[in-house]
Formats: sequence, structure tokens, C-alpha cells
Amino acid sequence: MKKILLTGGAGYIGAHTAVELIQKGFDVVLIDDFSKSDNSLLDGIEKITGKKINFVEGDCKDSTFLDQLFRKEKFDSVIHFAAYKSVNESVREPLMYYNNNLRSMTELLQVMGKYNVNEFIFSSSCTVYGQPDVIPVDETAPFKKAESPYGATKQMCERLLEDVAAANKNLKAISLRYFNPVGAHPSALIGELPIGVPNNLVPYVTQTAIGLREKLVIFGNNYQTPDGSCIRDFIHVVDLAQAHVKSIEKINEMPSNNEAFNLGTGEGVTVLSLVKKFIEVTNVNLNYEIGPRRTGDIEKVYANPTKAKDLLGWQTRLSLEESLRDAWRWEQKLANKPI
Ligand code: UD1
Repeated sequence: MKKILLTGGAGYIGAHTAVELIQKGFDVVLIDDFSKSDNSLLDGIEKITGKKINFVEGDCKDSTFLDQLFRKEKFDSVIHFAAYKSVNESVREPLMYYNNNLRSMTELLQVMGKYNVNEFIFSSSCTVYGQPDVIPVDETAPFKKAESPYGATKQMCERLLEDVAAANKNLKAISLRYFNPVGAHPSALIGELPIGVPNNLVPYVTQTAIGLREKLVIFGNNYQTPDGSCIRDFIHVVDLAQAHVKSIEKINEMPSNNEAFNLGTGEGVTVLSLVKKFIEVTNVNLNYEIGPRRTGDIEKVYANPTKAKDLLGWQTRLSLEESLRDAWRWEQKLANKPI
């Protein structure tokens, strides 16, 4: 079985992917610098899998740390989750974003080259498309000018990977373009842990429902959509995690040594209908109101996930209802409320 390094393994998507890989029998090593996470999800991974995890604290920008790690462990593959991901913060602190997200990528690819580790999976985002001209968007759509420094780092990392893969045919690279990951593990032992006030919709919804926030504001109701609110493609984090397992399994069967895949459900859902669905599924009273548009928001985007189905043999299985129920169970668990 392959030995796989997960950078950012203590984070939301990293932790869910670790669970799926361990349950499939892969040998997994997690690293994280805890700059945007803490160790609380690590316990959850061990509880779900019943296995002691191999975790090392360290920073992907630290070449000495990486060198020692790669010398000790004989990795077959790397899944690179570690990155800063707040759109707002990236606008305020662009250098921090370019420095962190680009340097960790170059350091990793460099150490992989040195130790002849050739399988690389990169956490990309649908943000690379900007507002696409054609929806559902497929992987051939051009990259529009990025809406934020965060989005620009994802575009640049994909470009960087393209160039490195062109120069080194031994490298097998896959970029996974996540749409909107939501939900939590159904065990409620791991889930999303936003730092401070959440920017993302579903954590804001669950924190409002539990009483941590006074009300949810829906950003805009005058978009060109059926109810006027934005449209997104909300994908259960467990489905997303399973796409990484498929990528690891299929990486040597790809048509080229650098491929990108959309990871989404293929269904566009309005923000307002998600909020209504949350109320319906959980039966909780949610205080919400319509507010002005949020700067930088894209009107609508959802995936054409056909390529992932055809080449990875992957498609989503979990519904929006399950995502919202699991997100709510996790929020209740955090608040120690009975679920
Ligand atoms: C964006 C990026 C995504 C990135 C994510 C990281 C796009 C298309 N997507 O997601 O790649 O990983 O940021 O943070 O660029 N909303 C409200 N009220 C709230 C919060 C959100 O109405 O309190 C609305 C937003 O206006 C948006 C939708 O909910 O229409 C989803 O917002 P959010 O969860 O922040 O994700 P994106 O902005 O879609």
C-alpha cells in the first residue's frame, strides 16, 4: 500500500481525507504547522479509524523540516492541502498569501524531486474560473482574472504545476478543483473549525442556529437567479475526501501527467434555498435577513463533474440534506449539546 504525506492534515478537508485513506488501508503521515488549525481533529481521526495516526508538526515552507521528513519516510505520494484559504484575509494580507501558498508549493515540489517522490495531488478550487461564461463549468474553461489574492494563488499553483510537470515527465500531478465543501463526518467526530467569525455560509448558518451569532445575513437577492441569491455547488466533505482516494488509486492511469478535475455535485443551489433546507432538515429556528451583496462574490457557479466520473470513477453520493444534517450534528457536538 502506498505511503502518503498529507500536508495540512489537521485541517477540515485534510482530516476527512485522512480518515478515508486510513480506512482503505493506506499508510498515512500527516503534517501541519497549526497556523490555521489545532490538534483537536487528530483525536477525532483516531477515534473514527481506531488507529494511532502518524503526525508530525512542521511547516511546508521549512526546507530543512521537509528534507528530514522525506529522508526518514519513503513516501509514494503527496496530497497538498496546506494553504491559507480566506478570501477576505487574502485581500488584507496579500503578501502573506503569496508567500505561504506559493512557497509551500515550491518547497514541496523541490523536496519531492530530490527524493524521487512522483505523485502529487493539489487542493485547488473552483475559484480558478472566476465567473465562467458557461455553466456548468468544465475543466476546459479559461481562467478569468482572479477575484482575490487567494484565488490568484490557486491559479498560480496550477500554472506552476503545469510547468514542473512539463519539465519532469516522471511527475504525476492532479489538481482537484473543489466547489463548496460543506458538512462533517457523520460520526460528528471531525468537522470544520472556523477561526473567529466564519466567512463561509454553512458554518455561519450553524453558528447562528446554535446561538453563537445573532443572525445570518444573505448577501444579495437581486442576482439573475431564480430567487435572486447566489448559486453554488455544495459538496459533502466526505464525498470530496473520497475523490482524493480515487485520485491516489488512479493517478498512474491518467491521459497526461498533469490533470485537473472539478469536484462538485453538478447541481447549482441558491443560498436562500440552502438556508430553507437547513431549517427544514434540522427543525431549528434560524434568524436570517437579506442584506447587500458581498464584494467579490460570483453570481453563479456549479460544476460539470463528468471528467471525474469518467477518469477517476468518482461521483458524489451524499445529498445536501445529509451535508446540512451532518454540519448541524457537528455544531451541536462542539457545543456539547445532545445530538
Ligand atoms: C469562495 C470560493 C472558494 C473558496 C472559498 C474559501 C468562489 C466561487 N468560491 O467560496 O473557492 O474555497 O471562498 O472561503 O470564489 N453567504 C451569505 N452569507 C454569509 C456567508 C456567505 O449569504 O454569511 C453567501 C455568499 O454570498 C455566497 C455563498 O453564500 O454566495 C457561499 O459563500 P462562501 O461560503 O463564503 O463561499 P464562496 O464565496 O462561494
